[in-house]
This record gives sequence, structure tokens and C-alpha cells, in this order.
Amino acid sequence: MLTLLIGSGGREHALAWRLAQDKGASVVSAPGSPALGRLGEIRPIALDDTEGLVALARDLRPDLVLVGPELPLVLGLPDRLRDLGLPVFGPSKAAARIEGSKVFAKDFMIRHNLPTASYAVFYDAKEAKGYLRDSSYPVVLKADGLAAGKGVIVCGNNAAAMAALDALMGEDHGKSVIVEEYLAGEEISFFAITDGENIITLPAAQDHKTVNDGDRGPNTGGMGAYSPPPVATRTLVKLVEEGILLPAVEGLRVEGAPFVGLLYAGLMITLNGPKLLEFNARFGDPETQALMPLLKGDFGETLLAAATGKLKGKTMEWSGDSSVCVVMSSEGYPGPYRQGDPITGIDKANARDQVQVFEAGVGVRDGIPITKGGRVLGVTATGKTLRDAIDRAYLAVSDISFEGAHYRKDIGEKAFRKTPFHPDEA
Ligand code: AMP
Ligand code: GLY
Repeated sequence: MLTLLIGSGGREHALAWRLAQDKGASVVSAPGSPALGRLGEIRPIALDDTEGLVALARDLRPDLVLVGPELPLVLGLPDRLRDLGLPVFGPSKAAARIEGSKVFAKDFMIRHNLPTASYAVFYDAKEAKGYLRDSSYPVVLKADGLAAGKGVIVCGNNAAAMAALDALMGEDHGKSVIVEEYLAGEEISFFAITDGENIITLPAAQDHKTVNDGDRGPNTGGMGAYSPPPVATRTLVKLVEEGILLPAVEGLRVEGAPFVGLLYAGLMITLNGPKLLEFNARFGDPETQALMPLLKGDFGETLLAAATGKLKGKTMEWSGDSSVCVVMSSEGYPGPYRQGDPITGIDKANARDQVQVFEAGVGVRDGIPITKGGRVLGVTATGKTLRDAIDRAYLAVSDISFEGAHYRKDIGEKAFRKTPFHPDEA
């Protein structure tokens, strides 16, 4: 089976690495990366070059197109490819609004009775300021539209909210802003593969959003993830499937925008149960790097079944082990960051048992890997227990170095702390 994979990051490396283990599989990636080039052919066509990607697909006639990142979804690439008669794992532009527009997503949650934080939308700075004057804190301010996880500001008091409002509404105050109730709890990522009607739920994962240990510092795209988190008991998984994932898939279907692909529910597990923070229309990153080494069986076949509306009765098999992905990032990330520094030790780390280094932002200069991105590597390890996986991952991290390398030292530790929410007692 020939898969055309759209993307170039750590998530795509993990997806391609796993696809390449299927019998008879080949993967062509665009725009690709050096790591993807070692797993198959790469075609350097930019993610926003919809015409170029469509032309490539027309030329290749792949058995499946797998779209990794959000940008081509929001630009409508899957619709164009479906018009060519190609099976695509990735939602239509209409369905991808669930990620692309926070206002659409919040309104959708309310329309379909999905549990989420209360909120108000403002198109006018003056009105927002009035509302914030009377709010109780903390509150969360969110910009509408894609912001790579950086358009969300948690504000502890009114002064912070005023500053955040100015930052998010822009100089001309022309953009819309959501003001949302702050939710306390355990943040968990749930993933469902869906053909628009049926779902297969993947093991849950926990991301670590902030740049520094102890959940301090600014939010990033994700500094590390592990799976499965202990809070995701069978009871919770069932609650999320029946109360969130299935109704969301059904809601999009009845609204005429069936979702085909990976529906990602970002949840806060609060004292009052799971509440939606957001939907994403794609595989999570770095969560996918943690999940792929746990997957057994034929991955491409499941994706193709989803893409062709044949998911009913299908299942996926998982190893039952734990997995941890520790992200190594460039100095400065999530702000402006260093680039172009040589990286050593990737091969040494990869030679360790049950370790896989996924490359998110790695270039090549004179045959040597160099840093080329904010998130550089996802150093991933599996183990019989989570502690075993964490130990293996950090040993592998210690093999690798580059100037200005940064990583969190507490990935996975959330699993060992007591949380207020026990789904089985709820
Ligand atoms: P979002 O892009 O909406 O998921 O927000 C990015 C991050 O901000 C989330 O992953 C949470 O860590 C945090 N966040 C968003 N909304 C809330 C909320 N209502 N309460 C607490 N934290 C939130
Ligand atoms: N890990 C967060 C995301 O993929 O959006």
C-alpha cells in the first residue's frame, strides 16, 4: 500500500515509522524531512501549496493520503483530493472548523450538549473590558483561529486580562476573543479514528504544554507526552466515548460536515467530570510519538478503512506497555530560537532497547544533523511500567546533545501524583 503523507514534523516521523512496519507498505512524504527521507521518498512541496500537493497526488495515485498537520486541513486539501477520487485520512474544510475556529467549536459544543467551560465571545474591546471588570478570576482568554497553542492566556487578575486582551485583539482590536471559565484538573488528550460515523478510540495520552518543569513558563506545542495516563480508567474512557467523542462525530455528520480522520479531544478532567478544552482535527504532537510504538497490527489498513467509510467492526490492538516521549527543544523556544547547531548522539540513543528518536526539527549540513526548528527531537521509549519507560527515555536523552538544548525533566511524573478526580468513584 502506497501512502502519501503530508507533513514534516515529529508526528509525521512517528506516523511514517509506524506505517513502514506494515507489510508491503511504502510512504512518500511531502514536504518531508531528512528522517522521512530515510523511510521513503520525499517531495519538497510546501504545506500551504495546495495546488502543488494536489498535482503530486494526481501524479502518484497513492492508495491513501494521510494529512498530518492542521494547515492543509484548514486550506481544504482533503476536499480537493477527494474530488480526485483518492481515499483521504483527514477531514474536509467544513469539518476541520472544529479546530480552525474556536468560536465555531464552542458553539458546536453547546449545540450538541458537550461538556465544556462557560464562555463569552467578544468582537469589541470595550465590551470585553466591561465584562472582564466584573469577572471572577482566573479567566482564560483565547484568540479565534489557529495559533499553534499560543493564542491562549490564563489570567490571574484583571490587570493581566487587560494586557492579554490588547495582545490578542491586536493593534486595531479587530479580532474576536473568547473569555472562558478557568477549569482546574488533569489535562488529557483523547483520540478517535473515525470514518464520519464509527469510531475507534486510541489510548489516551497526557501532554506537557508549558516549556518548564512543574507546568511553569509559557505554553508550547507540547514538551512531552506519555501514555496511558492512570486517570484514563475504563470508566473515564467510556464516559468520554459516549458523552463526547461519539456525539461530536454524530453532530458533525448531522450538520452536513462528516468528520473523516482523527478527532482529538483536549479534555480537562475536573471534579465534575471531563470537560472539553478544544477539539483538534488531526493527530496530536507529541502524543502521537508516544502512541505509535504501542500500536500493533496493520496501521495503514485501519486508516484506509476510516478514509473509505468502512470502520464499522474494526478494532486496533495495543501492546499494553507504557510509553514516554521527551521533547528536546532549541534555546529560546517557544519564542525566537537558535537554529543550525550540530546534534550528536541520535544514533547512540536509537541503539538503546525500546527507544526511538523521532525528528521534529532536524536538518542536515555536510551530512551532519543540525537543529532546524523549535521542537527538535521527540525521544521516545516504551516500558512494561511507566517508570521503566521514563527511565529509558531520559537515558536516551542523556546520549544526545546540541548547543542550547532544553527539555523538561518531569515528563510523566504527573502520573504519580494524586489527582482529585477518580472517575471510578464519580
Ligand atoms: P486550547 O488551545 O484552547 O486547548 O488552550 C491551550 C491550553 O490552555 C490548554 O491546553 C490548557 O492547558 C489551557 N487552557 C485552555 N482553556 C482552559 C480553561 N478553560 N481552563 C484552564 N486551562 C485552559
Ligand atoms: N500536543 C498538542 C497538540 O497536538 O495540539
